[in-house]
Amino acid sequence: MNRTSGLRGWSKWLVGWGRLEKIRVSEALFSPYVAAWRGVRKSQVFSQIKRVERALRKTEDVVELRDFGAGCPAEGRLRKSSVSSMAKSASSDPRKGQWLMAAAQAAGVGGRNPVRILELGTCLGSGGDYLLSGAPQGSSYLGLEGSASLADWTRRRLQRHSDAGMDVRVETGPFEQTLPAVIAAKRPFDLVFLDGCHEGEILMDQWRKIQPLLAPNGLVVVDDIRWSVDMHAAWLRLASDPKMAALDLFRMGILTPDAAAGPRDGAARVSWRQRA
Ligand SMILES: C[S@@+](CC[C@H](N)C(=O)[O-])C[C@H]1O[C@@H](n2cnc3c(N)ncnc32)[C@H](O)[C@@H]1O
Repeated sequence: MNRTSGLRGWSKWLVGWGRLEKIRVSEALFSPYVAAWRGVRKSQVFSQIKRVERALRKTEDVVELRDFGAGCPAEGRLRKSSVSSMAKSASSDPRKGQWLMAAAQAAGVGGRNPVRILELGTCLGSGGDYLLSGAPQGSSYLGLEGSASLADWTRRRLQRHSDAGMDVRVETGPFEQTLPAVIAAKRPFDLVFLDGCHEGEILMDQWRKIQPLLAPNGLVVVDDIRWSVDMHAAWLRLASDPKMAALDLFRMGILTPDAAAGPRDGAARVSWRQRA
């Protein structure tokens, strides 16, 4: 797996990212998304979520969870963790959150259309909160989470969006059990956030299964694309798909269908200041 760690590990990726020059995709495809990113930062709701995140990072309550992360057995591994350490290590932080909110706004065509969202791996509900906060009224969210205690956290965290009229559902169980029903329902999604298992082959498998459900102008956000050599290799394969345009945000990547893309071997990238 060769996990990225330490200053040295991340510096290596930074050098490569800075040299990312083979931009053969239409950046215009992503321009509504980048414009939304600028607006999100100034919004009140974004500041509110940041406050919630800060509080979670100081919450020492212990949660008993079933860990399905990389390297764990298929049935998960029982362990305990404090909320603060999960908030720091596994939840989407505000840099990622700003892009997630922007994705939900852009996928809803600037707030005009409701967005159908699917998130794989919800943890404490941070990603879902950012996504639903950017999504227009009438949007829907389906989260899949392996650990029952974390699924409960997510439901509680997202309750205010249900109260505001959004259709929010969180399914509990390993993806191997919950994902087949989602695929079989053939319900389209405008925005998919892949943030469950951080293993390249599993990511590719999830992508293959979910791709037919993606709406024509849908967005797929892939988290932790430089979490390991293996994850980065999988991201490069996704970004080179001739049917997709790709945007590299350093820690996350975005894909969207692009009929005109043709063969290419790279992704567009944002400026250093805008990275996730
Ligand atoms: C990085 S965290 C998700 C963070 C969240 N998306 C956010 O933005 O805050 C990954 C989550 O995926 C869940 N997960 C990992 N592998 C899984 C599997 N095979 N089945 C179900 N859930 C899984 C973990 O329990 C964990 O909560």
